[in-house]
Amino acid sequence: MPFLEITDLNLFYPIYEGLFSPKLIKTVEAVKGVSLKLEKGEILGLVGESGCGKSSLSRAILQLEKPTSGSVLLEGKELTGLRGEALRKRRLDFQMIFQDPYASLNPRMTVYEILKEAIKQRHPQFTREALDKRIFELMDQVGLSRQFTQKYPNEFSGGQRQRVAIARALAPEPKLIIADEPVSALDVSIQSQILNLLSTLRKDLGLTMIFISHDLSVVQYLVDQIAVMNQGKIVEYGKGEDVFNNPQDPYTKMLLDSILPLS
Ligand SMILES: Nc1ncnc2c1ncn2[C@@H]1O[C@H](COP(=O)(O)OP(=O)(O)O)[C@@H](O)[C@H]1O
Ligand SMILES: [Mg+2]
Repeated sequence: MPFLEITDLNLFYPIYEGLFSPKLIKTVEAVKGVSLKLEKGEILGLVGESGCGKSSLSRAILQLEKPTSGSVLLEGKELTGLRGEALRKRRLDFQMIFQDPYASLNPRMTVYEILKEAIKQRHPQFTREALDKRIFELMDQVGLSRQFTQKYPNEFSGGQRQRVAIARALAPEPKLIIADEPVSALDVSIQSQILNLLSTLRKDLGLTMIFISHDLSVVQYLVDQIAVMNQGKIVEYGKGEDVFNNPQDPYTKMLLDSILPLS
């Protein structure tokens, strides 16, 4: 049984027009018939140009957006039918890391408070002592000094802020992390530091992750598998090295051509 199994997933957005009696004028087919599998401890790179449906797919997997049809099984259990309290509980198993950590971190909370809130989702009964221990552990894991726990998000650099966001994602001990363009807003030198961190965390903690990027070169050294998305569909899907060395789909070839240096 695969850890995560997505079968024929569709997410269509109905677009209405008119204030008083809105009429359906069109349907944006953001995710079309997507099927993917992910084993525990693997990283799947989801790649495609802006607007191809990557974020929509991630929201449909996490049930932040109700899929139009299709199935998402996590450890064999269906997610798409979950509602209310059952869905809220299950959400603890997923965490997201976003492109802009500044927008996703509460500016009025210290790092300590941010991490405390995230840990308490999983362990509401944790004492002050247990919280301190876990928060220091998270700071160590993401390579931030323990002295930084009393700082606010705006006191950090972009790369450090993304480390805080990663620590927060790890805090509730999720089963699956979806990182949506997590390095796209960072300088190239900082990008590689964050990619190295994710790679280390994967080794140390056995993280299972979907790593989204519009840039195929970014995922190259991190991922086990690559799914290439174009206009809502997965056009190529396979082992990372196969997709890089022997792309089958013309769209993948085009993406690769755009990153390889001319020789
Ligand atoms: N809430 C929404 N309502 C209507 N259309 C949307 C919505 N979110 C995204 N879209 C459209 O769906 C398509 C895919 O968008 P998105 O998933 O954000 O792509 P990506 O993350 O790859 O840039 C785009 O055409 C976008 O305009
Ligand atoms: Mg997106």
